[in-house]
Amino acid sequence: MATKKESITTRDGAQQSPWQSVLPTVNTNATMGQKTVYDAIVIGGGITGLTAAILLQISGRNILLAEAHTIGFGTTGGTSAHINTFADTTYKEAESAFGKEGAQLFADAINEGFELIRSNIKNYRIECDYETKTGFLYAEDEKQADQLDDIFSGAKAVGVSVNYTTKVPTPLSFEAALEFEGQAQFHPIKYALALAKAFTDAGGIILEHTNIERVEKEDENHVGISGDLKIKAKKVIYATHIPPGINSYSLRCAPYRSYVLGVKLRTDTYPDALIYDMQEPYHYFRTHEIDGEKLLIAGGNDHKTGHDDPEKAFADLEKYVRKNYNVSSIKYQWSSQYYVPVDGFPYIGEMPEASEGIYCATGYNGNGMMLGSIAGKILSDLVQGEASKYEKVFSPSRLKPAAGFKAFVQENADVAYHFVADRFGIHETDSLKRMQPGTGKLLEIDGKKIAAYRDDQGEIFALNPVCTHAGCIVNWNGEEKSWDCPCHGARYDVHGQVLTGPATFSLAKIDFNDKQKE
Ligand code: FES
Repeated sequence: MATKKESITTRDGAQQSPWQSVLPTVNTNATMGQKTVYDAIVIGGGITGLTAAILLQISGRNILLAEAHTIGFGTTGGTSAHINTFADTTYKEAESAFGKEGAQLFADAINEGFELIRSNIKNYRIECDYETKTGFLYAEDEKQADQLDDIFSGAKAVGVSVNYTTKVPTPLSFEAALEFEGQAQFHPIKYALALAKAFTDAGGIILEHTNIERVEKEDENHVGISGDLKIKAKKVIYATHIPPGINSYSLRCAPYRSYVLGVKLRTDTYPDALIYDMQEPYHYFRTHEIDGEKLLIAGGNDHKTGHDDPEKAFADLEKYVRKNYNVSSIKYQWSSQYYVPVDGFPYIGEMPEASEGIYCATGYNGNGMMLGSIAGKILSDLVQGEASKYEKVFSPSRLKPAAGFKAFVQENADVAYHFVADRFGIHETDSLKRMQPGTGKLLEIDGKKIAAYRDDQGEIFALNPVCTHAGCIVNWNGEEKSWDCPCHGARYDVHGQVLTGPATFSLAKIDFNDKQKE
């Protein structure tokens, strides 16, 4: 069980990450010009939105960034902040789906995203605990060793520096291993807040707590609407993972939860490296110093959002870490969300099903730091009418390759199943009075389906469990105290407020009489 600390920045869950103790220095007080037509509204204050916003602003554009919560509230605030030259979609898989040229472009994009982070740190003198590390990927059996051979040859073919090694700083025994030089890690919130500051210093406007509910076309411009607020712009960038509304991205990307522990060890055996195994689901380990104290950052046990029990995922991860390291205490535990694209490549570019001039970026898999950065660059180029060599390969309107990625196709089948099955999936009848404080549950009371949460004081919050995106039934996430939708990953807090899109509207509150509470 992680110990509670004081958080300064907020994120999309009840658990705390070690990144939350940074004091924000972002100027969010600037007011927007009521008559201004911005060159672009950037929706979303994570790594993608911030990277696009600063690049556009320093190119002389007039940009407004609207964030529904606070800077880094979403996945950027929950990432484990690895910066790599390789990705979850291996270069071998990339080649089989997109050909040699596609694999090379993917490698170039990853590398360019990495370089962009490095140059931003240098140019804006960002202190974000950036450190270069060696990465190790190890196989524990013959089957994994064969996969490792493919990863090696695929990486070599696109010019990534990789070698076989017999030495890995892990207590586990292994069959074979690869060593990737020149990987890195950083503090994602320090980086995000510094980019936000650089953006406002350059004249950009940030509006936090501004949920753009919809975008409408008005003459030549787009209008982002948030309550009574209307923001006019020539172009719109959705940097929100899946863009809101019913669109094909929801069927082309599967949402996953990933689990992370910040662990204090009894001995100084913290690895000075980034270490990954090849299990399904996989684990990784690295070290980060927070407030002068070393932490083993251990993660993995990923599963589809809303499909498995988050408490079990944390428990299994902790058990695995305790088995292999001399654990003194678990200081932090938190989870985060990412999106697995159906064909292995992200979707970055102009949205084919929206009106002209609306862009999005999603489907980064577990590689959001590099892909979010390069997405910011690609979107900045496209918004300015400049060519990008990645435009075609990452185009959201591309047809998915016919061969390969069977597992990704399965993702779609699961989503489609939940669309139908979840609507009839609640058989449970229970009484609210049996609910423990601090817990949530799907109930059926007097024929009415309810997402019920009892807070620590005993008060009940009842919501309609039908997701406002496309009507699936949400599931309780007892670790992050949220209602998570198994279909496309929308998440809501205990009051029904949206934490994560693609939903933009809250879950409806349900009133029930006092008799039902007894
Ligand atoms: Fe699409 Fe819930 S996120 S139905």
